[in-house]
Amino acid sequence: MNNIQKLSVLNITKKYDNVNILNDVSTTVMESQLFALLGPSGSGKTTLLRIIAGFVKPDSGKILIGSKDITELSANRRNTAMVFQNFSLWPHMNVFENVAFGLRLRKYPSRIIKERVKKILSMVHLADYAEKKPQHLSGGQQQRVALARALVVEPEILLLDEPLSNLDAHLRDELRQEIKMLQKNLGITTIYVTHDQREAMLIADVIAIMMNGNIVETGSPEVLYQTPKCIETASFLGEINKIRGTVKHCRGDFCLIETSAGMLRGKVSSHFADGEQVVVAFRPEFLHPVSEKTANCIECEIVSVEYTGPAVNAILKMNDLIFKAVFSPLSFKMPSTRKLSVMIDSEHTLVFREKK
Ligand SMILES: Nc1ncnc2c1ncn2[C@@H]1O[C@H](COP(=O)(O)OP(=O)(O)OP(=O)(O)O)[C@@H](O)[C@H]1O
Ligand SMILES: [Mg+2]
Repeated sequence: MNNIQKLSVLNITKKYDNVNILNDVSTTVMESQLFALLGPSGSGKTTLLRIIAGFVKPDSGKILIGSKDITELSANRRNTAMVFQNFSLWPHMNVFENVAFGLRLRKYPSRIIKERVKKILSMVHLADYAEKKPQHLSGGQQQRVALARALVVEPEILLLDEPLSNLDAHLRDELRQEIKMLQKNLGITTIYVTHDQREAMLIADVIAIMMNGNIVETGSPEVLYQTPKCIETASFLGEINKIRGTVKHCRGDFCLIETSAGMLRGKVSSHFADGEQVVVAFRPEFLHPVSEKTANCIECEIVSVEYTGPAVNAILKMNDLIFKAVFSPLSFKMPSTRKLSVMIDSEHTLVFREKK
């Protein structure tokens, strides 16, 4: 990856039937980056991807590839290629012709077409399937053909709209890894749309979280997961425990917060005033069993325990509060009393302003 801006989305807005679908969306994708657009169903991901591809016109805003404004260019004059959720292969053409289609449109000589299609089919492990019709292939193989068809024209930007969602779990894992490897080997700038947070975390260099037609936060999977700036991002990216509280004291990077689970210490990225109403949030894996009561510690009753092999998932209760915890099997032994003190790692305890 490098530091060249490849795609700029500038203040894009779009309405359908007088309803705002995209509200002033701006973002930047760097060259060779795998950029995941992650958000719940209906948040506007496909609409934004189609605007980038040129299939849909925005109401306002601009799309730039490098420094070139392509907003007014038709889809076939943009150097982008899109892969759809439902494969959309031509059933009457064999695999070779499906992949060759874009090159034939561009009037490449047949020798070059043959070379390029052969090369790309072997990259997606379909060298022996050139003569087959799409309907005789598995879902995973059909999606590989769709990927080959997009890559063969050597687009500047590859746009993938939920490419794995019609595949079973095993195929999804396999093809996701292949897409990641291909993307890295070719260094092709890629936007990957998904509503699956796990998929986005596993594949992306950078994730943009989209909600209600806005990109609410952008960052690497690690940063977004561990230090999200908003509670919506924190909740969307995985399980998180939340308690409301009142700020008692804020100094430097840490705040003391009075909650119904006692006084908790949390990390903050901005200053909070004494008395401010906040939400304290911590992920299940940042709770640790302790033998002695320490700071940031809560005494709980164990409601249930599930051994998954690598981890122990526990549901804990303190008065009316319920917490989820994920322990290492090495650090957890079921106490006969079913009572357990857990320490909340204050480095990983987040504090968010309560929304009014
Ligand atoms: N052509 C259209 N005409 C009218 N409304 C549309 C059109 N295309 C999309 N919408 C609406 O825009 C909103 C966003 O749709 P979009 O397909 O971009 O969402 P998405 O984030 O891709 O969702 P999903 O994860 O379900 O694919 C939805 O409410 C949808 O109904
Ligand atoms: Mg969609």
